[in-house]
Amino acid sequence: MLRSKTLAGALALPAFLICGWAQTVKSAPPKAPLGLPPLSWPRDNPYSAAKTELGRILYFDRRLSADETVSCASCHDPQLAFTDGAPVSTGIKAQHGGRNAPTVINRAYSLAQFWDGRAATLEEQAKGPIANPIEMGMPHDQMVARLQAIAGYRPLFQQAFGSEEVNVDRVAKAIACYERTVLSGNAPYDRYKKGDKSAMTAQQVRGMALFFGRGRCDQCHEGANFTLNAYANLGVGTDKPDPDVGRFAVTKDPRDWGVFKTPTLREIEHTGPYMHDGSMKTLEEVVEFYNKGGTPNKNLDPNIRMLHMNDADKQDLIAFLKALSGEGWQHLKPPESFPN
Ligand code: HEC
Ligand code: HEC
Repeated sequence: MLRSKTLAGALALPAFLICGWAQTVKSAPPKAPLGLPPLSWPRDNPYSAAKTELGRILYFDRRLSADETVSCASCHDPQLAFTDGAPVSTGIKAQHGGRNAPTVINRAYSLAQFWDGRAATLEEQAKGPIANPIEMGMPHDQMVARLQAIAGYRPLFQQAFGSEEVNVDRVAKAIACYERTVLSGNAPYDRYKKGDKSAMTAQQVRGMALFFGRGRCDQCHEGANFTLNAYANLGVGTDKPDPDVGRFAVTKDPRDWGVFKTPTLREIEHTGPYMHDGSMKTLEEVVEFYNKGGTPNKNLDPNIRMLHMNDADKQDLIAFLKALSGEGWQHLKPPESFPN
């Protein structure tokens, strides 16, 4: 009782004080919710509470962008299940990118980042948007100089890394550490699988049979995070002029033309619009797209074929997708204040 009171008190304090508190309590990393494997922390960036807290502050701090208007959270907002709810994102000076912002949820379980898999780790990924001219537009040396000039950040870097030095690797490590705590599990599907047969509705159970059966969804969306972390061509956008070449840009292999990373389906109810170009507004549109066998093109994946689902089947499948909404991220909030 007393302990939880102290905790509540600490949480009401400014972020930099919480951090000091977190240091003294040697807290353990978050436990993965039901349905997810235990988290594994990279050897060169192990969990610490102080680093996670620094990462949280950096993640929400708009001063990481050139004109101080955009933070990571602008495009990966906790209130929108760590997405931005728009077909494609808007960066500094109202510039639009060509791709939909994926959710940050369960990135800890991903083998590669970005729609085309061009970043191998979250540490590597985090450096990209900061310097990207249409996202945050902040060259790394300028970002480091700006953070160094903010005295309030010094104790946070000290606690997280053992010295006050600010560098881009430390910024990326802290942000990645925070991102690994953004999780979703313990969904109705997980509870059903564990034996609670009342966790899903009869309609969701029928939808599950379609997902793992006739729909062949699990050919790609398999495992705890509903992705094999592989890539496929569904033809999304290939019927438009000048289509996004996807993974081809990374590998230069013609078989990778129009190929994209299979995204997680956890929290899918909350992360629309869908696909790499945000071209599908609803799950109804997505299911209709799969039902008609994707968009024909030279690289269409052989697993994408007409599914012959009737309206009731489609509704069942959508109901099942909604059984993948869980918990582990809703409690994550922006800091109350930022270091000065
Ligand atoms: C202007 C909007 C914008 C900002 C700001 C932004 N992102 Fe993103 N983020 C995106 C888009 C769009 C993509 C997909 C880009 C691609 O695949 O080429 C993405 C991809 C990602 C991914 C990969 C997810 C996956 O499933 O592969 C992660 C992780 C991520 N961003 C984290 C961050 C972090 C951390 C920051 C801050 C340092 C940040 N983003 C800033 C829009 C943004
Ligand atoms: C051949 C592999 C494959 C199969 C089979 C497959 N998917 Fe996908 N899924 C993908 C890929 C790859 C994407 C991203 C494609 C893109 O953006 O171009 C995707 C995207 C999605 C999305 C949008 C995710 C987001 O965050 O935007 C949903 C929802 C989805 N799939 C559900 C399903 C369902 C339901 C089935 C079964 C009917 C299914 N998928 C079958 C590979 C597959």
